[in-house]
Formats: sequence, C-alpha cells, structure tokens
Amino acid sequence: MANAKKESDVMEKLVSLCKRRGFIFQSSEIYGGLNSCWDYGPLGSELKRNVKEAWWNTVVRDREDVVGIDASILMHPRVWEASGHVAGFTDPLVDCKGCKKRFRADHIADAKRCPECGGELTEARQFNLMFKTFMGPVEEGAAVVFLRPETAQGIFVNFENVMASARLKPPFGIAQIGKSFRNEITPGNFIFRTREFEQMEIEYFVKPGTDEQWFEHWKAERFKWYTDLGIRPAKLRMRPHEANELAHYAKACVDIEYEFPFGWSELEGVANRTDFDLKRHTEYSGKALEYFDTQTRERYVPYVIEPSAGVDRSLLTFLVDAFEEVVTEKGETERFMRLHPRLAPIKVAVFPLVNKAGMPELARQVYEGLRKRVRSFYDDSGAIGRRYRRQDEAGTPYCVTVDGQSLEDNTVTVRYRDSREQPRVAIPDLAAFVAEKLEGAKSNIV
Ligand code: GAP
Repeated sequence: MANAKKESDVMEKLVSLCKRRGFIFQSSEIYGGLNSCWDYGPLGSELKRNVKEAWWNTVVRDREDVVGIDASILMHPRVWEASGHVAGFTDPLVDCKGCKKRFRADHIADAKRCPECGGELTEARQFNLMFKTFMGPVEEGAAVVFLRPETAQGIFVNFENVMASARLKPPFGIAQIGKSFRNEITPGNFIFRTREFEQMEIEYFVKPGTDEQWFEHWKAERFKWYTDLGIRPAKLRMRPHEANELAHYAKACVDIEYEFPFGWSELEGVANRTDFDLKRHTEYSGKALEYFDTQTRERYVPYVIEPSAGVDRSLLTFLVDAFEEVVTEKGETERFMRLHPRLAPIKVAVFPLVNKAGMPELARQVYEGLRKRVRSFYDDSGAIGRRYRRQDEAGTPYCVTVDGQSLEDNTVTVRYRDSREQPRVAIPDLAAFVAEKLEGAKSNIV
C-alpha cells in the first residue's frame, strides 16, 4: 500500500510539474477538461518535436534503406475491411450494474465483480475501437469513414507508389509519424493511454525467409534508441507475446516495456506481420502488391517487420525516467528533469547575475548570439537561485550567467544541470562550446 501510494505520488508530482512548467495541460481545461485529451504547452511541444525528430533522424535520415511518407488520416473505408479492423479491432467491454462504470474485461482481475464498488458486471461484449465520422454533408451509411486507428495502413496502401517512385527493392522500409485515434474503453495514466495520440511506425519489407533475421535486427535497433536517449536500461525490457496475445496479423511480436510508476507497460511493439496486409489489400483492391525482380524474374509478396512506437508514450517515458526529486541538506525539495540534451526543450538559458551594471545588456547580446544556433531562453526575473531551479525543472542542460567578471574579461559561467560544474567560457567560444556539448552528449547526465 505504501508503495502504491508512493507510485501514485510520483505521477501526481509529474503531472503537476508538467502543468506548472508548461509541458502538458488538460485539454479544454476552462470547460472542466475532456477525458483523456491533453495539450502540449510551450515546453511540451518542443519536447515532442525533439522526440519525433530523434526518431526520424535515426530510422529515416541515418539509413539508406528507409524513406518517409505522410499519409492522410481519413482513408477509403475498404482499407479497414481489408486490414481486419472492422471485424476484429475490438476490446471486451463490461458494465457495472451498480455504479454504471465501464471496464475492459481483460484489464480487471475478476470479470464478474466491479473493481470499484464490488457490484455485479454484465457479460462482456465486443466494442469496436474505431472512431466513425461522415464524409460530406449527409450523415448516411454510405458516407461513413473512420479516423485511422494506426498509421500503418497508410503505408501499406502506398507500398506500390513508394517502391516505384523511390526505386526501392526489398529489404526497405517506409516510415511515418502521425495521429491515430482509438475509442479506448479505459484511457488513463496521464498521456499513457489516450483516445487521440501520435504513432511513429516503420513497415520494413523483406524477402520471405529473411523475416526472422530482420525481426531480430529491429528489436535490437529499437531498444538501443531508447537507451541512447538516456533511458536507464534496467527500466526497459523486451517481452515476447504469448500465442493468445498476438494480433490477428502477427506471426511474432515483442513489446518493449518500461517500468512506469504504475508498473511494467508497453512502450513499443515490434511485430512480424508476415505478408498479411499486402495480401489482404491485393484481395480487396484487386491491385497486385508484390515485388518483381526484373533481373532474376523472381516475384514475391514481401513479409513485413513493424516497429510501432507511440510519440506520447515515449515522451511520457522520457519524462518519468528524467524526473528526480532531491531534498537538500537545508531540507529544501528540488526537482529535476534530467532529460537528454538532444531532447531538452531548451538547450541553454542565459541570465544576468543581477539586473544592473551592464549585465542585462551583455546577457542579451550573449542570448542573441546563441539563439540562432540552439534553442535558448533569456531570464532576468527573480533571484538567480530560483532561475536555476526553474531551468532544472524544465530540463535545461546548460545555464549561462553573465556576472561582474564577464564585463572585465568577456567570459561567462556555464552551469551544468546535473554535475553543477561551472566552468568559465569566453563569450566568442560559447556557441561552439554548447553545440559541441550537445552533439557529443552520450547520456542524459550533463
Ligand atoms: N500498427 C501496430 C499498432 O498500432 P499497437 O501495439 O496497437 O500496434 C503501437 O500500437 C504503439 O502505439 C503502442 O506501443 C503505443 O506506444 C502506441 N499506442 C497505442 N494505443 C495507444 C493509446 N491509446 N494511447 C497512446 N498510445 C498508444
């Protein structure tokens, strides 16, 4: 019980810091909020961009064999018949006859008793998670379209277009970042499970028979991505799916899981989707989706390895892993976001030590010089200690302070967030110094 309390405390503290510092706000808060919907504030939107950019750089720009696309959210309704989502993208729903609350039957210990009030539960019924809407002005059956529940299908239906236009041959991948929507029965745990979220997905097309080797490749690559960005390896694990957990399209799947304050939970799935999707779209569209090698005259339907991550869930993981509360010798509580410098929303904050004697003028000059190179922030309000504290909570790895000595010898102090070292650096060398630190950052501790 003490532990459960401690764990919920961590989430409460994190949610509160996220609001206070402008990472994440409740959606439509002035109207009482909208369940499971969240808005990213000034720091959160920068962090989210950095997470997406780190992913895109690693899986697209740093590789020769992966290209990107950006498909539309609304797709032809037949797509979802072919993919199996109309028939099978369901969760078992139960209602409490007493308190009327709803639960996912597979998320509660006893499928007969309400976990909240102990009341009797209804029989489970299957509930389709796709959001429906209407295309055009008439709300009739023929106009029904769905908000995509995964970005993957936008890749499968563009397989031929991309392969031909980019002149690719397997093994190659198509990557995409975009919004997905699921009418989850029980969203929760802050931004962990929401009804509107963003995915970062790769469909990697390979020759059948080489799929198991590529599955291993992507498992290792994706695990490394998180640890390279500072996630503690002891908090990450790979969990293979049991046969009864596998999605209808998968031959094998591994979840990369993180130990959140609410327990081990899925961060990303790496699945071997076989040739299921390409074959189904061939069947439903009448267009052959296959690879033909003009030299060897070989023809086959590629198998697909799919690493599928959530932007919001990754972001939550980076926040949870980076969050630390320290009680000082004076009994004061200090909070840190030890974000990896590549992810930190602000890379450098610039302060005049005091608001007089030419320090603000020089500090602004330093700031103007830095902001063209890296995301910087100028702050001259309040005591210097409080300014440092605010940046520690924002995850800013470096704080530059202009003091009395700066006016004499044109140097500033650069305070490191974690080690608290404060070397002096000459102002003309500052931008290069910071850029080098950011580029060379191997861990999230600076
Ligand atoms: N295309 C395969 C696919 O969508 P998934 O395991 O259902 O597989 C992949 O989803 C990832 O998308 C998850 O690991 C998670 O990071 C993210 N995700 C899925 N549902 C989510 C939700 N309701 N809220 C936030 N993220 C979600």
